[in-house]
Amino acid sequence: MRILIKNGMVVRSTGRKKADVLIKDGKIKRIAPEIDAKADRVIDAAGCYIFAGFIDTHTHFDLDLGVTVTADNFETGTKAAVVGGTTTVLDFATQDHGMTMHDALELWHKKAEKSSSNYGFHMAVSEWNDARKAEVDDMFKAGVSSFKMYMVYDAMKVNDGQIYDAQKFIGERGGVIGVHCENYDVLQARIAEEKAKGHMDPTAHPVTRPQAVEAEGVARLMRIAELSGYPAWVVHLSTADGLEEVRAARKRGVEVYAETCPQYITLDVKRYADPDGAKFVMSPPLREAKDRAAILDGMKKKDIDFIGTDHCSFTMAQKALGKDDFSKIPNGGAGVQNRAELVYTYAVKTGAITLEQMALLMSERAARLFGMFPEKGALRVGSDADIVIFDPDDKHTILWKTNLHACDNSPYEGMEVLGRTRDVVLNGELVVENGTLVKPYCGKYVFRKPSERYRK
Ligand code: URP
Ligand code: ZN
Ligand code: ZN
Repeated sequence: MRILIKNGMVVRSTGRKKADVLIKDGKIKRIAPEIDAKADRVIDAAGCYIFAGFIDTHTHFDLDLGVTVTADNFETGTKAAVVGGTTTVLDFATQDHGMTMHDALELWHKKAEKSSSNYGFHMAVSEWNDARKAEVDDMFKAGVSSFKMYMVYDAMKVNDGQIYDAQKFIGERGGVIGVHCENYDVLQARIAEEKAKGHMDPTAHPVTRPQAVEAEGVARLMRIAELSGYPAWVVHLSTADGLEEVRAARKRGVEVYAETCPQYITLDVKRYADPDGAKFVMSPPLREAKDRAAILDGMKKKDIDFIGTDHCSFTMAQKALGKDDFSKIPNGGAGVQNRAELVYTYAVKTGAITLEQMALLMSERAARLFGMFPEKGALRVGSDADIVIFDPDDKHTILWKTNLHACDNSPYEGMEVLGRTRDVVLNGELVVENGTLVKPYCGKYVFRKPSERYRK
């Protein structure tokens, strides 16, 4: 199969230029002005940007919380992903108590069988002991070179000593560990305080998790990494103070990678007072204007490394599990389809970042940190032909009904955005054409190498 993309503007982290792109047998064969070659399919990309396929570093598909399971599984979630320009998702395979990492990996491979985007797995671990450590080498052999630990959630929480030990053990092997940074004990105390006051609706959620709850967790993780001598990856960074902790740690020589999410540059904490405020209950919570400005500044100054969605979707009926108690609302929101258009609208069009930085944040740095570069995250001869043709002139409104995700809500409902993923080439095949998924189920497992650790 040969595809020729003509007349587009090729955007890389290093610059942009008008060029044609020739694809053959799943790989990029040539990038040059005015390629004249035979092709099975010629796509006119005049007026559009051509990006390396976007990588979502943070999704939770088919996640079982015990009380309920996410609305999206891999089948629905990756359809939404690829239509939005995400050609690879990195989902959290979760080793729950009583499971091994091998069990979790096998289960996640099964869950991902019907995928329409490429996919890889971070291994989220709920336990850290000799038995789990004995499995780590096999994870690398299976293409899993990144892990996750949580400072919160009763089912997943590990302690600081375990994070320290895991950073050393996994770091020695060329892996990285993402950590959900919040102070568990203070959080529990604040939840009890709000409940004692009878404050039970969703507006209590951000009160229990103010920015200091995140910033303390980030500061602690930074010190743990300073002591272990291995890298730290802060997942879903949402606050100005958390970002300052990252910057201060880097000044001390700590190797830190920071991820943020579209919700932390677009949505305001006041939304918890909306009639459907429960749909915004996610952790960390939505923040204030000064935090959004700080996160955008972090993106501009390249202090933020990449953007994942933290897609963790629940229907309004599921959210109603916490109708009388905010702490029982399943945490998470749907966003996997809308990341590119939100970043383009709220970061590029506002002048906070350049298109080149968008390429860096949406794919290149994730590919480098997570051992996929230059097969993914690059527009180069020899790279995998995962390509997004993005129309910057499109204007549309985000509506859950027109999104392909499986839940009946979107945190971005009604927001008007600029730009749209028009076409997507995945593994050398045209799978999205003019915004429609024309070839589902073409996703492949991405076997990942050890981390490039580009901040080392
Ligand atoms: O609220 C969220 N983010 N739920 C998903 C799990 C997590 O903390 O990443
Ligand atoms: Zn988290
Ligand atoms: Zn998450």
